Amino acid sequence: MKADIILGLQWGDEGKGKVVDLLASSYPVIARFQGGPNAGHSIHFEGKSYVLRSIPSGIFRDGAINVIGNGVVLDPMTFRSECEALEAQGVPVRERILISRKAHLILPTHRILDAASEAAKGKSKIGSTLKGIGPAYMDKTGRNGLRVGDVEAEDFMTRLETLRKKHFSVLRQYDYQYDPQTDLAAWLSAIDYMKGFRFIDSEYFINEELRKGTGVLCEGAQGTMLDVDFGSYPFVTSSSTVCAGACTGLGISPHEVGEVYGIFKAYCTRVGSGPFPTELFDETGEELRRKGFEFGAVTKRPRRTGWLDLVALKYAVMVDGVTALSMMKSDVLSGFDKVKVAVAYRIGGKEYRHVPYDTYAEIEPVYREFDGWGDLTCASSYESLPSSFKEYVEFIEAETGVPVKIISVGPDRSQTIVR
Ligand code: IMP
Repeated sequence: MKADIILGLQWGDEGKGKVVDLLASSYPVIARFQGGPNAGHSIHFEGKSYVLRSIPSGIFRDGAINVIGNGVVLDPMTFRSECEALEAQGVPVRERILISRKAHLILPTHRILDAASEAAKGKSKIGSTLKGIGPAYMDKTGRNGLRVGDVEAEDFMTRLETLRKKHFSVLRQYDYQYDPQTDLAAWLSAIDYMKGFRFIDSEYFINEELRKGTGVLCEGAQGTMLDVDFGSYPFVTSSSTVCAGACTGLGISPHEVGEVYGIFKAYCTRVGSGPFPTELFDETGEELRRKGFEFGAVTKRPRRTGWLDLVALKYAVMVDGVTALSMMKSDVLSGFDKVKVAVAYRIGGKEYRHVPYDTYAEIEPVYREFDGWGDLTCASSYESLPSSFKEYVEFIEAETGVPVKIISVGPDRSQTIVR
């Protein structure tokens, strides 16, 4: 059995949680491979809404095993509050979650470092979620990090203190006020709570499950345009959000990868700073934000909105080796007279069909216009959808060379068309 991967193709918030939840019934194992509590995967069903941060989106499915992989950075405090909220809803989290010993821990001082670093950047700040993601990955690659498995070590407290001291010495470079004891007691208590879960060598676990023929779905967070290598650097997150990130974040070989489900919104959004060629600053952009309820699931910040960017989408499809597309929030585009898609970038008077190295370049999108469409929320088959909408879908398929297999026409689990 191959491991299938689901990942975002834009700047995050594409609606991955909904698709994972939808597909989860066919996969006994769902594994998160990167990112941390900067993610906010929203799932809506039976009239209720849930936002998952570090926990894989298969958590609501009976019998599903949800693995937090080695590529994830885990904040025990967020993990605890997320688990407690789920437990209060009757979800047996301890039965359904396994945590990689090799996942790195986010400390309260990582969060402080994140805030101090962003404050020092002033106008050029990344717009980080301030969850300590960047500093935790810096400690990982700097070979200073603490991992989940370390909490079982006898000298854990000494190692923690060593890392905290290192953080305090870095913080001295910043003109930043903080309380060194912030959240320490709550964090240690959350570590104790976390010890009630099963820690595993997830690379052995996943490879063994694949060998036995178990379906494994690897769940990405953020999106390809936020990837540390291929995103709009430096306005990116600190992990590998691309397909290859599933291999390093779970310990599976590229030979083991099967389907790659690429998730994109029918338009584009972005939170935080950084280039966004198709961004709309007018009433249309405002309407997309209002209709799509485009506010960060984690930070509640208003998301920037714009038309679909096919140049960026095709780039993401290439980098990720996408085999099937899922188009989300198609219903949000209902009611517009005309719908636009960027098919090229004009830079310095010349047209380009690739994402430029210089992400600061003045980019003017070259648009193709489509006729708008009416309500889609009650559609139950592809055939019953308006012809102008189908023209939009089929244009995307022709441009990317990948079939759009899932179309979401509303927030509920049931408002999904699978082709
Ligand atoms: P960080 O990963 O929190 O440091 O944030 C780095 C950049 O990625 C910022 O622009 C964030 O807004 C963005 N970002 C991080 N996580 C997400 C996400 O889950 N969805 C959308 N944007 C995100």
